[in-house]
Amino acid sequence: MVLAPDPIAEAGGPDHLLHLVQEDLGDCRRCKLSEGRNHIVFGEGDPQARLVFVGEAPGGEEDRKGRPFVGSAGQLLTKMIGAMGLHRDQVYICNVIKCRPPNNRDPEMDEVVACEPFLIRQLEVIRPEVIIAMGRVAAQTLLRVKTPITRLRGRWTRYHGIRLMPTFHPAYLLRNPQAKREVWADLKQVMAELDLAVPPRQR
Ligand code: URA
Repeated sequence: MVLAPDPIAEAGGPDHLLHLVQEDLGDCRRCKLSEGRNHIVFGEGDPQARLVFVGEAPGGEEDRKGRPFVGSAGQLLTKMIGAMGLHRDQVYICNVIKCRPPNNRDPEMDEVVACEPFLIRQLEVIRPEVIIAMGRVAAQTLLRVKTPITRLRGRWTRYHGIRLMPTFHPAYLLRNPQAKREVWADLKQVMAELDLAVPPRQR
């Protein structure tokens, strides 16, 4: 039997393809956020991850370091990933937009329009089974809806054909720890979808 050539393998694998996307992004000046940023936060993790976490935009710490979710919300995200029995380097973490908005304001539509194609290209390379959209801004922006996050969370939907689970943002959980119960329910739905066992201490 002659196997059809695998275009991803031929092009050098997902790692290499993600580098190509990052190269295309370059020292991006496609929107006004480039004027105030220190670093573009491209995203990081396993280029073949089955699970991708998408937040809204880099915050101050992320802008300084050039890495997603490395501030206090990021520390909680790392714990949430651990509670799922996974490690940060087994998933992929990124944001809807790659540069920090001034004073952490919500991203504007022209910024999303400029940046989202790169997120879509990252997802085309990674081809995850599930995306978790964290927070109102990420969920509403990706899904192009104004539905409150309280109604979006916990319900499966799709983004570019990929199963997507909206949930609360870890920064929201830092302010409202009582909402951790709902996020855990959402994460358990994702684990069931990925056939991941709940670690014994989390049951
Ligand atoms: N909040 C986000 O939405 N993304 C980050 O990378 C950090 C904080």
